[in-house]
Amino acid sequence: MKLVHTLDELRAITRTWHQAGEVIGITPTMGALHEGHLSLVRAAKAGSDRVITTIFVNPTQFNSADDLEKYPRTLDSDSTLLAPLDVDVIYAPTVDQMYPDGFATSISISGVTEGLCGTHRPGHFDGVATIVAKLFLQTSADRAFFGQKDFQQLQVVKRLAADLNIPVEITGCPTVREADGLALSSRNVRLTPEGRKVAPALYRAMQEAGARIKAGDPAAAALQAAQAALLDAGFTEVEYLELRAEDGLAPLDSLSQPARILAAAWLDGVRLIDNIAVA
Ligand code: PAJ
Repeated sequence: MKLVHTLDELRAITRTWHQAGEVIGITPTMGALHEGHLSLVRAAKAGSDRVITTIFVNPTQFNSADDLEKYPRTLDSDSTLLAPLDVDVIYAPTVDQMYPDGFATSISISGVTEGLCGTHRPGHFDGVATIVAKLFLQTSADRAFFGQKDFQQLQVVKRLAADLNIPVEITGCPTVREADGLALSSRNVRLTPEGRKVAPALYRAMQEAGARIKAGDPAAAALQAAQAALLDAGFTEVEYLELRAEDGLAPLDSLSQPARILAAAWLDGVRLIDNIAVA
């Protein structure tokens, strides 16, 4: 496993791989790796000849300087986790390299970015789309693996690749959860011990709302009850809790097509997001 910090070095490596006809898979991350990330790496290993894990805490997708500063940076332990998975390259560029003086491009995607995190994190998906486009082009990946945990982001990167004709095949991988249902996230370590006990209520509330909607209850009533349950459990704010079409994310009132419940809520000053399929 090679740790690469510069684009020149990365391109020299990927050129030889492509010349040999090898398929390159990438798993873009911001580091602070956990089992959720590692599941993407395993999927990439299974579906590609070579795997690059990118680790870059992308400043342009953060909404607050405080969140960016507090984001864990753990390259050494990340490398230790990746080594046994037989990753070929960790690509960890510097901020200056990704955004040199004079950088002036931003990719803005409409439709799938509207509502949900798009409303509550202005500019976030522009930052994500721009950095993911750069990573696709820098790595010349044939395949890329993203988590369904960030379901709206997954739709954004699919739209990005399709609209810009970037020849990369995108796979969405299932959300990895703790035994109590809490979706793994690099931000979970910021929860207090009490908050950590409350956090699985998010998954439970979505499951209960999903069961009610499947049983024929109006979505609005089921989602309102779920929101009340979260505030009762100790969440301080529910940003959104919505039923959306699995394909294209249009708002839904009932199960007229394959759907997902998507949620974002605050606990202990930490913003948790999650989603489930309601089929
Ligand atoms: P990050 O939050 O580090 O997540 C990297 C990838 O891991 C994303 O595709 C995310 O959906 C996936 N992931 C996170 N938690 C997961 C879980 N519990 N189960 C399965 N997959 C999980 O998402 C980003 O970084 C950034 O926005 C990025 C795409 C790297 C662009 O900067």
